[in-house]
Amino acid sequence: MKEIKGKKIVLGISGSIAAYKAVVLTRLLVKAGAEVQVLMTPAATKFVQPLTFATLSKRPVFTEVTAGEAWNNHVELGLWADAMLVAPATANTLARLANGICDNIISAVYLSARCPVFVAPAMDVDMWHHPSTQRNIDLLATYGNHLIPVGNGELASGLVGEGRLAEPEHIVDYLGRFFGKSQLLKGQKILITAGPTYEGIDPVRFIGNRSSGKMGVALAQAILQQGGEVILVLGPSALKPEGEGLQLIRVESAQEMYDAAVSAFPDCQAGIMAAAVADYRPVNMATEKIKKSDDRMTIELVKNPDIAAQLGRQKQTHQRLIGFALETTQGEANAKSKLARKNLDFIVLNSLQDSGAGFGVDTNKVSIFSSDNKVYHFELKTKDAVAQDIVATTLLDIKSKD
Ligand code: PMT
Repeated sequence: MKEIKGKKIVLGISGSIAAYKAVVLTRLLVKAGAEVQVLMTPAATKFVQPLTFATLSKRPVFTEVTAGEAWNNHVELGLWADAMLVAPATANTLARLANGICDNIISAVYLSARCPVFVAPAMDVDMWHHPSTQRNIDLLATYGNHLIPVGNGELASGLVGEGRLAEPEHIVDYLGRFFGKSQLLKGQKILITAGPTYEGIDPVRFIGNRSSGKMGVALAQAILQQGGEVILVLGPSALKPEGEGLQLIRVESAQEMYDAAVSAFPDCQAGIMAAAVADYRPVNMATEKIKKSDDRMTIELVKNPDIAAQLGRQKQTHQRLIGFALETTQGEANAKSKLARKNLDFIVLNSLQDSGAGFGVDTNKVSIFSSDNKVYHFELKTKDAVAQDIVATTLLDIKSKD
């Protein structure tokens, strides 16, 4: 991966069974052309021998700040590195880093590092969800560190849930994305619907909603960043998205969005339905401005076509379809029911019960449910970061479907 070539990376490995994955990680980083300096806590050396990492990285591994008479210069290492990566980061290591406890080589280099720091946690599900761990994660994020999301699945304890170390390939890709534009979606065209729709009542009035288009535009940018192409069907929105590989189709009504999406989808490998589409439109749009008359007025509405459901019907086996669910109550049940009803592969739930989530704001908090019953929960983040999580969770393996 050319973004990583020549980069100097300090890799801190702490004492977790997931340390074995750091062997593959070291190999991938070296293969990508990085210079890797491995640091290990004494606990980590109980899981994998330093000799393994020294052989792969072609550098001595540092396990202590002092080594006999010698002093392993943590300040120098902190200045040498283009990036520091702590993977796996145990609950203990997270606590050390978050609270500035400088009693091993990893935390000493961390405190001296001027480069960006990436932290990939790994631990059991209950340790991960413990408020102490979550507080330390939040603290580390507030210091500007990059937290690489944990995976969800079977853990060494036999329990199932969140806490797995992200796969080495994902960690390398995460670094690649940081250092430059990754090409993981090169050759893939993704359709996105975004923004609100306006359903005309008369030439001056419409039925609409509060969607700004921010979530869909952030998704488009996240896909472009991965080298993909995007057809963005955008309802009325003040945003002016642009970028190499972006085809923007501006629409107003649900019917226009439907026509554009249905005709674009056959050429796409995936569709992401982030638009807030009006479910109903006036049966007739008045050609002249409706004059004020009676105290009450009735507008007869007719159902709009469901774009996601139609794409779900026409979806081919090589295509993937991702929907959104905006809920106010019973989020999970409603999202899962839409996932099945519209023949989606994934559904992204955002709930208006979570402050900072949903319409208009720059942040969102989502959970993603897959048609094969996987669940991914994410913290409140900027819509840009949420978009990256959605793309990583739902699309980055799409080439393997070809
Ligand atoms: O635009 P922002 O201000 O950034 O806000 C983002 C958002 C809140 C609009 C976005 O995150 C979101 O949740 N979009 C979907 C909103 C919605 O209409 O959800 P729904 O539960 O009503 O619809 C379910 C799915 O069917 C959605 O993927 C929707 O795009 C799709 N749908 C719905 C009706 C319809 N006629 N056609 C559709 O394609």
